Amino acid sequence: MQPIGVFDSGYGGLTILKEFKKKMPVYDFIYLGDNARTPYGNRSFETIYKYTLQAVEYLFAQNCHLVIIACNTASAKALRTIQQKNLPKIDPNKRVLGVIRPTVEKVGELTKTNHIGILGTVGTVNSESYVIELNKIFPEIKVTQEACPMWVPLVENGETNNEGADYFIKKHIRALLDADKKIDTIILGCTHYPLLMNLIQKNIPSGIKVIAQNEISALSLIDYLNRHPEIDTECSKNSSVKFLTTDSTEIFNQRGQMFFNEKLVSEKIILD
Ligand code: DGL
Repeated sequence: MQPIGVFDSGYGGLTILKEFKKKMPVYDFIYLGDNARTPYGNRSFETIYKYTLQAVEYLFAQNCHLVIIACNTASAKALRTIQQKNLPKIDPNKRVLGVIRPTVEKVGELTKTNHIGILGTVGTVNSESYVIELNKIFPEIKVTQEACPMWVPLVENGETNNEGADYFIKKHIRALLDADKKIDTIILGCTHYPLLMNLIQKNIPSGIKVIAQNEISALSLIDYLNRHPEIDTECSKNSSVKFLTTDSTEIFNQRGQMFFNEKLVSEKIILD
């Protein structure tokens, strides 16, 4: 078995895995949620890098040839260093990919005004990863970012559809749209945020598109494997999905269902 590893700080990556499974049903996947140490969003570069590297190494030890970091914060803070510094030493044939680049590549097709908004964690926003990547491919696009530090904790705690959540969603969407009135496309730059979609849509004026990353990430992975048959042959295809968590399996099995829309059974592991 050589499953594709999918990693997130907690449950958010399950929204991406769900789409991988739907669009790539023959592949094997192994999901790792670092629920014991989530959220990553407000942590330092050193901490996020250390935690992400531990997760990637763990997944490699499970025989993964390809690992997808299905977390914007970890993609923003740790991916490049892992690709450039660690991977050549661990195994130059293995691959680690993130979710920011595929999202950025898609944005050019979506905006008409060339003004886009990014909603993300403090870590993702402060890293400026979206701004830097967008500037490289679409220098004509104006990017405005807004950090939403409360959104991941709301989702991780299942508080996704109440007055409290509505308050924090309204607050950040207003701030984003006040900062640039020409925004016509908003990227949910965090894999947890699709769980808040109902309230997000309710607070966004019609005519502004809201883009989640699940479909974009799946289509981009399919395209990547088509272009890299040497990696594709290293991915086993028996339609299996395995779940690992660094915290309570009971809680993961119960809350994870919210993200994955299916019953799931997890195993506990220790990362350190
Ligand atoms: N799902 C992660 C992301 O996409 C959440 C980050 C966190 O743990 O704060 O950014």
